[in-house]
Amino acid sequence: MARVSVPALRARKGGEPIVCLTAYTAPIARHLDPHVDLLLVGDSLGMVVYGFDSTLAVTLDMMIAHGAAVVRASRHACVVVDLPFGSYQESPQVAYRNAARVMSETGAQAVKLEGGAEMAETVAFLTSRGVPVMGHVGLLPQSVNALGGYKAVGRDPASAERIRADAQAIADAGAFSIVIEGTMESLARQITEDVAVPTIGIGASPACDGQVLVTDDLLGLFSDFQPKFVKRYAQLGDAVGAAAAEYAADVKTRRFPGPEHCFGVKKATA
Ligand code: KIV
Repeated sequence: MARVSVPALRARKGGEPIVCLTAYTAPIARHLDPHVDLLLVGDSLGMVVYGFDSTLAVTLDMMIAHGAAVVRASRHACVVVDLPFGSYQESPQVAYRNAARVMSETGAQAVKLEGGAEMAETVAFLTSRGVPVMGHVGLLPQSVNALGGYKAVGRDPASAERIRADAQAIADAGAFSIVIEGTMESLARQITEDVAVPTIGIGASPACDGQVLVTDDLLGLFSDFQPKFVKRYAQLGDAVGAAAAEYAADVKTRRFPGPEHCFGVKKATA
């Protein structure tokens, strides 16, 4: 099975919606892979997997380890790995060095970075040197301290115009696709109409060229709080708790392990 390529995704502008989910580990990547076009190894793993209260503590080594695991466990979806906070903002050269490590050490097809017009030079530097880049505008989790929280952005005309210009700058710089996160529906719709590359929405608009969710949110595994933009498709957190409770009861009453789980013990015949 050939992997979905970056040019194939780029060609989906205005076509069949692009299906994207986050993946951080091999078993989850294996389960998602046949059903999605794009697996995003998001730096949200800092919060979802490592329990940090933001994505800022995520390192390049963490992204590389998880990116490589997702690539090994998948064979259909295009794999995109987030560049973490501090690994690309300093200069296009630093961004290139770190993006090259991600590409060569994980086997991923592309990197994603957050930011607008201020990152356009870096996007152009990477894309002109063979590193496909996915942009990310709107709510930027790596800027949580500057934003003062994770609230939807672009509510007033000036900030909406800034986000629109950011998306245009990133598209013009050569990004093959742009994530639009946490902004007004009408703005995400407008950006999708304006830019020539596919937009992938999260808390954005059904008009986007694709959608992404954090898989652990969709599965009910991450937290009890359900943000407005998340649709829960399962409650695996409850299932995990129930399984652990049943196991605990079995261990305490010596129902587990049974003879069938022990070596050299014959099952009693009736
Ligand atoms: O880190 C992440 O998972 C992301 C998505 C939410 C778009 O950037």
